[in-house]
Amino acid sequence: MRAVDVIMHKRGGAELAREEIAFMVEGYVAGTIPEYQVSAWLMAIFFKGMSPRETADLTELMLHSGDVMKLAGLKGPFVDKHSTGGVGDKVSLILAPIVAACGVQVPMMSGRALGHTGGTLDKLESIPGYKTGLTETQFRDFIAADGFAMTGQTATIVPADKKLYALRDVTATVESIPLITASILSKKVAEGAEALVFDVKTGPGAFMKTLADSEALARSLVNTGTAMGKRIVGVITDMTEPLGRMVGNFFEVEESLDCLEGKGPADLMEVTLRLSAWMLVAGGVAKTVEEGIAKCEAALATGRPRELFLANVKRQGGDIDKMLQLRGTYRSAHTRKLGAKDSGFITGIDAYKIGLAGVYLGVGRDKTTDPVYPDVGFIFHRKVGDAVKAGDLVAEVYGKDEASLEAAQSLIESALAIGPAKAPARPLIVKEITAL
Ligand code: URA
Repeated sequence: MRAVDVIMHKRGGAELAREEIAFMVEGYVAGTIPEYQVSAWLMAIFFKGMSPRETADLTELMLHSGDVMKLAGLKGPFVDKHSTGGVGDKVSLILAPIVAACGVQVPMMSGRALGHTGGTLDKLESIPGYKTGLTETQFRDFIAADGFAMTGQTATIVPADKKLYALRDVTATVESIPLITASILSKKVAEGAEALVFDVKTGPGAFMKTLADSEALARSLVNTGTAMGKRIVGVITDMTEPLGRMVGNFFEVEESLDCLEGKGPADLMEVTLRLSAWMLVAGGVAKTVEEGIAKCEAALATGRPRELFLANVKRQGGDIDKMLQLRGTYRSAHTRKLGAKDSGFITGIDAYKIGLAGVYLGVGRDKTTDPVYPDVGFIFHRKVGDAVKAGDLVAEVYGKDEASLEAAQSLIESALAIGPAKAPARPLIVKEITAL
């Protein structure tokens, strides 16, 4: 087989045989096919797409390029959730202990902040002492003990994605539904989950900005995952304004604790409970999403999810006492108050602009090597739909230094829209796609 022939087949719109896809993926990982040929192949896929069968083959081949976590011997069901990334999206921190309290095990392998979106690992590591680089044995042991564990991707999990994603990033081939599907799904299946719930965000603060694109990705994830024998649910959720009232690494840990104590903001709780409930359905411990929500609410009322969260913090090296002491006080000294310029109603808080401003402040990063800070970000005192008078406090903003606040100022001001009339509420749960 020759790489040039496989490129030519895809360029002509043919459906590739599994052997052809294997030849390209394995050859690239082994270093026998050069980047210029893989780049051309990726561009051909970008323009010609892939059938569901090709996408499933690509996903499986990428998955088997590395290790797969072995959870056999542990008591399941094992279900995880993946979000395509948002601003203020701390759902994983709240959902994992809720779902675990309901008897579903959550093997969670998360990512870091990049660009305007936050990362679960950075949020957890803002807890003093918390470690996210677990060994496979720790991952298994911690799941067995608390019902969930939080780790980062290891070097041996889906090495094909590491190489392919880096190449896609510099060849303008990231925004391809089959390539995104294979990239996300291969990593999620590698962590050992039997069922997966995908939170596909839609709106200006999301990776997929339009509903049509978000739906295409959700359907592709559901169809491909189902073809691989997994139970999959895709939930499309709105990412027009930041989720919850806090954006920032430790700030989001604080807000997660609030949620686990029954004091969470309504939007964040709605999304968290819906996704948690779907995990119970996918794991077979609830028959319907309504029953799942009732079970999650009942679990929250017992305080067990908060206990499990604290147990996990301790088990992963975090200092619970310090975390609780820092609550409400872990704030950078470099701060500004954002006041309403007019009287009326908040009609928009642009999640994308807030996420980008967060990169200046030190919440997120432009490059994977940039540092992030625990004590910076936003605390919103008003959200979309709230009435304001000119001068009212809308948000507190914290930056890593004065220059970062200066740099973010105009972006933050332009993110906030005030109008004379209350905008109609946007549904948070936009669409659900299931093959259960
Ligand atoms: N996130 C991923 O993990 N992979 C993609 O291809 C896009 C977003």
